[in-house]
Amino acid sequence: MDIKLIEEINSKTQILDVVSEFVDLQKRGKNFMGLCPFHDEKTPSFSVSPEKNICKCMSCGEGGNPINFYRKIKNISFQQAAVVLAERAGIEVKKQVVKKDPNENLYKLMDEAAAFYMFNLKNSKAGQVAFDYLIKRELTTKTIEHFKLGYAPTYGDTLYQVLKDKGYAVSDMIKLGIVKQSDNGKYYDLFSDRVIFPITDPRGNVVGFSGRTLSSKEKVKYINSPETIIFKKGQLVYHLYEALSDIRKSKQLVLFEGFFDVISSYQAGVTNGVATMGTSLTRTQAALMRKVSPSVVIAYDGDQAGQKATDHAIPVLEKVGLKTEVLVIPEKLDPDDFIKNYGADKYELLFSQYLTDPYQFRFNYYKQGLDLTNSNDIKTFKSKVTQMLVGSDPAIIAIYKNKLAKILHIKSEDIIVKKTVQPTVIKPIDREIKEKFVDRLERSERYLIIVMLRSKQDAINIHSQLSANDYSDPIISSIRSKVMSYYQDHDIIDIDDFKDYLTHDQRTYFEKYILTELFYTNHVEITKETYQKYVINMKNAAEKRRVSFLKDELDKNGYSNIEMAKEYNELLAKTKKNGGPNGN
Ligand code: UTP
Ligand code: MN
Repeated sequence: MDIKLIEEINSKTQILDVVSEFVDLQKRGKNFMGLCPFHDEKTPSFSVSPEKNICKCMSCGEGGNPINFYRKIKNISFQQAAVVLAERAGIEVKKQVVKKDPNENLYKLMDEAAAFYMFNLKNSKAGQVAFDYLIKRELTTKTIEHFKLGYAPTYGDTLYQVLKDKGYAVSDMIKLGIVKQSDNGKYYDLFSDRVIFPITDPRGNVVGFSGRTLSSKEKVKYINSPETIIFKKGQLVYHLYEALSDIRKSKQLVLFEGFFDVISSYQAGVTNGVATMGTSLTRTQAALMRKVSPSVVIAYDGDQAGQKATDHAIPVLEKVGLKTEVLVIPEKLDPDDFIKNYGADKYELLFSQYLTDPYQFRFNYYKQGLDLTNSNDIKTFKSKVTQMLVGSDPAIIAIYKNKLAKILHIKSEDIIVKKTVQPTVIKPIDREIKEKFVDRLERSERYLIIVMLRSKQDAINIHSQLSANDYSDPIISSIRSKVMSYYQDHDIIDIDDFKDYLTHDQRTYFEKYILTELFYTNHVEITKETYQKYVINMKNAAEKRRVSFLKDELDKNGYSNIEMAKEYNELLAKTKKNGGPNGN
């Protein structure tokens, strides 16, 4: 989309119209004021200027021109926002300038399926049974509507028939996993006699379903859509899109284990809840959460499995920069049961009274079930706690060393917490000096990022060959992760849109050292053969770094660590074969 067109869309869209869809505005002199939709506040600081046709929050700084405001509030791309507003303003946007989402027709199909399930919950006899089940679980109609719950009728091909009549391709239904083909060639619906939970992606498209059985005898409690091109469980967070405005306002989200926890909590007033779908939390999911919130409360089930999952989730969440807290639900209950047993008021109180920090939580969790007079248990406990402390703030290390020392009746000086091998993070100033001497290796790394930006296919190829450790520069390695996660829901990279996904430091580096490279432009041809050389280059250099790291460790600690010594010898032999002392 060119600048002229964007300007036309902005100028023909009244900022007042766009904002007042989301904010109650009051006239104040020339401007209008309202409560900021991007953060929680009691006195209005969101100002709209019809004259300048822009809006801005005086407190948090969010806002912008019509397209910018709209994309932020809807969590969509610049392109998408521009197209919607153009349509409203009656501006024609030529089809070829709009990068149409190639999955558009799949989303439409899924929408249609969701509507079918919803219709069945309300309008069929069997649906009535499912509806009663939800009412028995104390859901209100309002909640059922918010979550767009539905019902899949018993065995058959009703959904298949409905979709076929509407002109959808069978191949698409199969591709999306909602229809299957039996051995005798007949098509049938995947979900049968189940309550249906539609699952949306971060942009609000329905991309999959989960179906809960109504019968306590049925062995499989939930059936999920299979993994498809638009449904990848590890890359989706249930209810994230729907909770977006509540998450933004409270600057926090609550992470649950199950659909019903999210739903009951929502009804009990905790409206910023999300969940993963029966799989352990992935980094991509954590990153999606970090994009919309600075902090998270883990509220998994209070049982052993829930605590174990919490222990796993903490570092994943902290690594993406989320401030993490843990809510331990008493009596081993899950949030849904707690609400049933004690009511919404007590539940909301939990969030102030039972919140612990990740250290407190793990310290107690690691201690559970151990006999601290038994030497094996002592060792286990001590090692888990010291491991948890690696890389932590010295003040925290001191506190927990003391706690541990007290419990084990030892001196806190006798507890050793290893220092991590911190990757050297180069400060901006150092970077400028370093830039003059930037070596060929770093150039290779930057070059590969550009190749990855230019083509998804090449990105996948390069990514499959290089792990994070193969990058000598952590900032480049982190940008490369962002590139890959961007490709998870885009086929081409829109550089401006992509930049929004970067942290401040990544963005600074990206703009200064990557976008300025000569071959960033598409005019220079890059072949697989050329970039493959750079891949090899990096791999060799990474091996050499590993060799010297191992050598240092072995020199320091003696050669008693057999595994390290073995790895060292093997790598040494290999790097010698590859020649050259620095790989440059
Ligand atoms: P739970 O068993 O805690 O489910 O599993 P729940 O949502 O609390 O359901 P109720 O209250 O028993 O009705 C947690 C999550 O694990 C996934 C679902 O996403 C579920 O919400 N799960 C569970 C499956 O995918 N398949 C299963 O068979 C069970
Ligand atoms: Mn449950």
